[in-house]
Amino acid sequence: MSLTSPRSGDAAKVTLSSIQEKKQQHQPITCLTAYDYATSRLVDQAGIDMILVGDSLAMVVLGYENTLPITMEEMLHHVRAVRRGVKRALLIADMPYASYHLDEKTAVKNAARFIKDGGAEAVKIEGGEKRVGLVHRLLDAEVPVMGHIGLTPQSVHMMSGYRVQGKTITAIERLMRDAVALDRAGVFSIVLEGIPREVAAMVTEEVGCATIGIGAGPECDGQVLVIHDLINLTDRQPAKFVRQYGDATALIANAVAQFKTDVESKGFPADNESYHLPQEVQATLETIRERKRAMSR
Ligand code: KIV
Repeated sequence: MSLTSPRSGDAAKVTLSSIQEKKQQHQPITCLTAYDYATSRLVDQAGIDMILVGDSLAMVVLGYENTLPITMEEMLHHVRAVRRGVKRALLIADMPYASYHLDEKTAVKNAARFIKDGGAEAVKIEGGEKRVGLVHRLLDAEVPVMGHIGLTPQSVHMMSGYRVQGKTITAIERLMRDAVALDRAGVFSIVLEGIPREVAAMVTEEVGCATIGIGAGPECDGQVLVIHDLINLTDRQPAKFVRQYGDATALIANAVAQFKTDVESKGFPADNESYHLPQEVQATLETIRERKRAMSR
């Protein structure tokens, strides 16, 4: 096996080491979700560092009420599609609810499927201290792990809804314990979701791994957003932390309405949007048709 380096002109592949370097050099880390080939290609080509096939897929693409129903098979299907679109970014697969909650052996098996069958380079799991044993098992199986604490959507029922976490001293202490425990266990990164900016700043200072915020303020080492929120392609009221950089809803709605108008008014397709017969075939066809008409007279 040879030790290869990127071809000249290729942007360097993002790896666990380059994410760690960015943390150490205080260079902001970018992360977005993506769920299909077309979008992930664009996100990758834009130079985003990490692409997460989040289980938010359940809601924004598949139309489920929350993230809980999505299955391993559904997630894998999308991870494979994203793999085909991504060349440079680090590709992370989100482990769906109940794929890692039951027993560690099943959890490692499921995580390995994302790596082996899906082409992911890491997995993300929700939860803090209680996941330490599992993080060790995953690392033993050569599966890099991203943690996720704070507002963890798979715990929606336990949290009595999607609520900002870490607002009391007790809750802050618990969050700090969770972050430190994951960091010590060896995760390469932790998503901090829906927590006060001040708490995210404390966690970011305390841990050696990169913190990636979503609704956690600007002091995190990096930021992640759900791509459908970023381009306004959801039917839900955006959360406070979402910044919309485009309006895909308007784009699609206008394009579809114009198509409908043009088809119904016979304005589409035009002659230059149609295929034509070669002239000699057209001439022969005319002759045949003329002969048929003459015979039937
Ligand atoms: O599922 C998801 O998209 C996520 C991100 C919001 C971090 O977990």
